[in-house]
Amino acid sequence: MENIIEVRSLKIQFGENIILKDINFNVKKGEIFAIIGDSGSGKTVLLKHLIGLLESYNGEIYLENNDLKNIKKESYDSFLNEIGVAFQYGALLGSLTLAENIMLPLMEYKTDSEAVARRIAAWKLSLVDLEGFDNYYPSDISGGMKKRASIARAIALNPKILFLDEPTSGLDPITSTEIDNLIKRLNKRLGTTIILVTHDLESVFSISDSLILLDGSKKTIVAKGTPFDVFNSSDRNVQKFFERIKKSTVK
Ligand SMILES: Nc1ncnc2c1ncn2[C@@H]1O[C@H](COP(=O)(O)OP(=O)(O)OP(=O)(O)O)[C@@H](O)[C@H]1O
Ligand SMILES: [Mg+2]
Repeated sequence: MENIIEVRSLKIQFGENIILKDINFNVKKGEIFAIIGDSGSGKTVLLKHLIGLLESYNGEIYLENNDLKNIKKESYDSFLNEIGVAFQYGALLGSLTLAENIMLPLMEYKTDSEAVARRIAAWKLSLVDLEGFDNYYPSDISGGMKKRASIARAIALNPKILFLDEPTSGLDPITSTEIDNLIKRLNKRLGTTIILVTHDLESVFSISDSLILLDGSKKTIVAKGTPFDVFNSSDRNVQKFFERIKKSTVK
């Protein structure tokens, strides 16, 4: 299968502070690829570099065989048309309805007429099981529904690659499972490649095809492969990570 993202010898550093180094991985077209690791290990920072939002790196990031540095110089706007992002703390705009939140990127990037944008927004809402909620405001809906509406906004422009940062954090297990099912369905139905940043192991094991595990003290990838490969790794750092997660979830 073809790689849609390739990362080579990536080092991310803010001033003297090295966040990640020796990062090498590929994301295959059409897969659900998870980035996992403890809090502070650099998951969000890595994601922000993959989409060109931060540029404190050495090494190479290729998106569809194009060097991100060239994309930034030559065609960043058209690149932004091809990706969708739901940020970790990326709230919907509270003064706009759900439909208007989704219409925003449509009208900004595609210059769709308002009527067309409104119809597309309704369709995107139905894709995330929020059919008929077009005129609700974010404050009128539950946390799980907000997460789904953010995903609807992220897929507004039919992205080839969808980046989701902690789409299930703060949700109860049942609602998290619903979001996982939704992500899986979007991946199958739309063929979208999905980069999923999470520390929800349920999500990782039920929906991801492959993953990397970041370690904050080693500042690098300590395991990669299928969820099965990573879980069964004999590496001490990897086992310690799963022990920590188990301790934090078993009450
Ligand atoms: N713009 C920035 N400038 C300097 N340091 C930063 C910047 N953004 C993040 N950092 C640092 O990078 C490190 C990794 O942060 P990051 O937000 O990527 O962690 P994370 O793995 O996403 O954690 P969490 O699971 O809590 O979301 C942290 O030490 C953070 O303080
Ligand atoms: Mg984060």
